[in-house]
Amino acid sequence: MKASELLKAANREEAELLDKIDLQRLPEHLAVIMDGNGRWAQRRHLPRVAGHRSGVKAAREIIESCARLKLPCLTLYAFSLENWRRPQAEVDFLMRLLREYLKRELPAIHKNNIRLLIIGRSEQLPEAVRKDIQSAMSVTAKNTGMKLVVALNYGGRAELVDAFNALLQQVRANGMAAFQADEQTISEHLYTAGLPDPDLLIRTSGEMRVSNFLLWQIAYAEIYVTETLWPDFSRERLLEALVDFQKRERRYGGLGTARERARGLAAASGKSGRS
Ligand code: FPP
Repeated sequence: MKASELLKAANREEAELLDKIDLQRLPEHLAVIMDGNGRWAQRRHLPRVAGHRSGVKAAREIIESCARLKLPCLTLYAFSLENWRRPQAEVDFLMRLLREYLKRELPAIHKNNIRLLIIGRSEQLPEAVRKDIQSAMSVTAKNTGMKLVVALNYGGRAELVDAFNALLQQVRANGMAAFQADEQTISEHLYTAGLPDPDLLIRTSGEMRVSNFLLWQIAYAEIYVTETLWPDFSRERLLEALVDFQKRERRYGGLGTARERARGLAAASGKSGRS
């Protein structure tokens, strides 16, 4: 099957990019740091929240495109632990936007067989948000298509702290004095347990930082940074990133792709690679 049979090109540029995509070699897990909503608005002399609204539109297009291309997993960094430091009005707006998004898009997400998952310290989110995400997760729980993971109130170091504490609790409760952790036990206690590690990380708006995102999981990810601000990150920009990813993978060969490196390492240490 060709990519152009899954996605209908909107213009010649998209058609050319789709032709270059090898469906067998798409990332298993694409993670995205959506950055630049504020700058997008600022350049248009609009309030920052207008940038977030346009950011939601971009997210919708990327989610739909990834689901159509049958990517197994897409993670979006929507709200970090540090984001609480923004003005209260902006935080409130982001929470409202998320609830609005879930309410409006849930039928389409469900129809597209997408399973919604949330990672982060969701217990600290406002109750109304928690209720909405809980019900969206249960509605889509049995869906078998793409996993859409939304990182909300997420921090990579906090995730590691939570994983270590969960492990310690288990060790204490079971009196496992001789217990020794290994990479697999740690992975299994992260919020992302059961998901493949991202093999491609995209960051928009040009910053060369990982911003406390999936610190453990991106150990072998290819990183793609684009100057494009998130609200302008269209389907065409996504296809460019995927084509670039496939070129890079081709350059390595043998045990050299990000995915093979991750699996090879797991095999070498006697662990089975996760699916
Ligand atoms: C970065 O822009 C973006 C965020 C803080 C996250 C909010 C994301 C959205 C509203 C997209 C929608 C997502 C979903 C899952 C519906 P910024 O404000 O940091 O931009 P700046 O760096 O230019 O100020």
